[in-house]
Amino acid sequence: MPVVDVHTHVYPPKYMDLLRSRTAVPYIRSFPDNPDAGDRLVILPAEDTESTSRGRPIGSEYFDIKQKLAFMDQHGIDISVISLANPWLDWLPAESAAATAREINDDVERMCAEHERRLYAFGTLPLSAPIKEVVAEIGRLASMKHMRGVIIGTSGLGSGLDDPKLDPIFAALEKHGQLIFLHPHYGLPTSVFGPRASDYGHVLPLALGFPLETTIAVTRMLLSGVWDRFQNLNVLIAHSGGTLPFLAGRIESCIAHDGHLKSQGALEGRRSVWDILKRNVYLDAVIYADVGLKAAIEASGFDRVMFGTDHPFFPPLGEGEKEWLSVKMNSDAVRSALSDDPSAADAVMGRNAVRILKLDS
Ligand code: URA
Ligand code: ZN
Repeated sequence: MPVVDVHTHVYPPKYMDLLRSRTAVPYIRSFPDNPDAGDRLVILPAEDTESTSRGRPIGSEYFDIKQKLAFMDQHGIDISVISLANPWLDWLPAESAAATAREINDDVERMCAEHERRLYAFGTLPLSAPIKEVVAEIGRLASMKHMRGVIIGTSGLGSGLDDPKLDPIFAALEKHGQLIFLHPHYGLPTSVFGPRASDYGHVLPLALGFPLETTIAVTRMLLSGVWDRFQNLNVLIAHSGGTLPFLAGRIESCIAHDGHLKSQGALEGRRSVWDILKRNVYLDAVIYADVGLKAAIEASGFDRVMFGTDHPFFPPLGEGEKEWLSVKMNSDAVRSALSDDPSAADAVMGRNAVRILKLDS
C-alpha cells in the first residue's frame, strides 16, 4: 500500500532569496547578538520577539529537495504532495506577484519532474495581483503535469475567504477541478494569548491560533454561501479541519437559531455544514492523536481523510534523532483511530490520496 504525505512544505530557492532580502516579517537572517543561533526563519508576527530568539532555526531541510526525499525514505513515505509553506506570496506587491508566482510554480514543477512518481505539488497563487492574473495562473497550473491544486491561506484578497470578490477565483478552481489546500498562517490576535504568551514559546499560536483561524475562515465561507454558489468546489482543510469536525454541530445549531439569518431568507435551501463536510471537504490527518482524528473521520468519512506530516516543521528536538516524533504521532493516530479496520487505515495513509489527487503510484 502506498504511503502518501499530502501536507509537506518546501521553500523553493527563489522564495528563499526573497526571504533573505527582507527585514520585516516574513524574513530570514542571522542575529549578531546571537551568532550561535545561525539563520532564523521569522514568519509569524508572534515569533518576531526576543523571547523566541526570533523565529526558528532554518536549515536545508526547508529548501533542499534531497532532504525531503531522505525524510520520505526514513519514514516509509512513497509520495509527497509538496506545497510552498506560509505565508506564501500574500505579502508581495501587486505588480510583481504574478511573475514571482510563475517562477515559484515553475521551480516546484521542475522539482516534481526530477523525481517522477515521488513528488506532486499544490501550486501557489499571486493573491495580491489583479484577479485576472490570479485566474490566469490557475489555468497555467492546471496544465502542469504534477500540480494537483493550490495552497492558500485564510486572508484571500485581504478581507478573508467570504469576500465575494473571490468568486472568479473559486469559479476558475472549480472549472479546472483544482483542489484548494487551505492552510492557516495568521492565527488569532496576540492579545487573546495574554501578556505571558511569549513565556510559552510558539505553543499558543500554533496549537490554538492556527486551528481556530482555519475554523473561522471555513465557517465564514460557509455563511457567505460559497458552497451554495460553487457546489463542486473542493477544499482540503489543514490540521484535520482545525476544530471544524468538533464544532460543526454547534455551528449548525447557531445558524438554525439565528433570527437575523432567518429574516434575510438565508436559511432557506442552504446546504448544511454536514453536507459540505461530506461532499466538498477533505481533511488531512495532521492532528497528532486518535481522538481528533476520529472526529475528522466521523465528520467527512474515512475515505476523505489523508495522511500528512507538516515536514519540515516540528522536527525532533533531540540531536541526531532520525525518527520524527511528529510523524509517529500522526501515523500512530491513524492506526489507533482505525484499529478495527486496517484497510481503512491504509486508505488514510495513502490510497485515498492516490484516488482523490489522481496520483500515479
Ligand atoms: N508552523 C508554521 O508556520 N507552518 C506550518 O505549516 C507548521 C508550523
Ligand atoms: Zn503546514
